[in-house]
Amino acid sequence: MNYSTHNTLLYVEKLSVAYGDKTVIKDINFVEKDVVRENNITGQVIAFVGRSGRGKSTLFRAMTGLIKPTTGKILIADTETDSENDAKEVHEGDIGFVDQKYTLFRNKTVYQALLFALRKKDISKEEKHTKIMSYLSDWGLEKVKDQYPCELSGGQRQRTAIIEQILCSGHYMVLDEPFSGLDVGNIEDVKNAFNLITSTHEFNTIIYSTHDIELAVELADSIYVIGYPTIDGKRTDYGTIVKHFDMKELNLAWKDFGLDHIEIVKQIKATMLNS
Ligand SMILES: Nc1ncnc2c1ncn2[C@@H]1O[C@H](COP(=O)(O)OP(=O)(O)OP(=O)(O)O)[C@@H](O)[C@H]1O
Ligand SMILES: [Mg+2]
Repeated sequence: MNYSTHNTLLYVEKLSVAYGDKTVIKDINFVEKDVVRENNITGQVIAFVGRSGRGKSTLFRAMTGLIKPTTGKILIADTETDSENDAKEVHEGDIGFVDQKYTLFRNKTVYQALLFALRKKDISKEEKHTKIMSYLSDWGLEKVKDQYPCELSGGQRQRTAIIEQILCSGHYMVLDEPFSGLDVGNIEDVKNAFNLITSTHEFNTIIYSTHDIELAVELADSIYVIGYPTIDGKRTDYGTIVKHFDMKELNLAWKDFGLDHIEIVKQIKATMLNS
């Protein structure tokens, strides 16, 4: 499938993070650019996979500005300026983050949480209401709009958390294991959510982690495997990118899951087992 790449949207260089004096991730380098296809709004879908404890959540916390890296830099496109190639360092709030445990405000209903997410937006009360109601309707949450988190299903909570981030952040969204603990229907809901986000704006970029390798291969156009690298015959104990699968280059992006995808699933699993 034909595509080209334009502006750099995400630039990560020599990133490492330590908790105390324990280095958890090291030497993380990658670049993601705006993918452009003719007659098609194409957002970016980037998956991170890797065995438990290899540092996916840690990387995401650094990328969303929640923790400070020990070394390295993380740049995102400065989409508020007009010039094409402006980059800025990431700060907390620039990138929406749907946490592994997706916590919502306990004392706010779905509607109130979404209204709160819009608090900094310079639009009228009526416009906010219209916006929220249109999301609730598109995402099948109208009926539960006055319910509290404890009264929602896992999928409804997850969708609310995603809308919340769409409303208050810009083009980037990081989701840590958005598919875990969901039933087949909820998984479809989140997949549809991905589609909605990436078909709304060229720059919209979803970065997610998953233990479901099929869901990485099916949805992502770029897949990174985080693992412990083997250096001089010895397995290290910090995480880094051990392999990158560019699904666009492999001609497997934006396609139905087929035999070629299964082959990639196998390769990813083999890589994970060795790292
Ligand atoms: N706040 C913390 N303080 C100290 N060590 C931490 C902290 N958070 C995570 N770690 C450690 O850092 C390493 C990476 O953890 P992280 O949560 O990033 O892994 P992960 O790849 O997201 O794992 P999982 O797939 O299980 O979610 C682990 O060894 C973990 O014990
Ligand atoms: Mg994690």
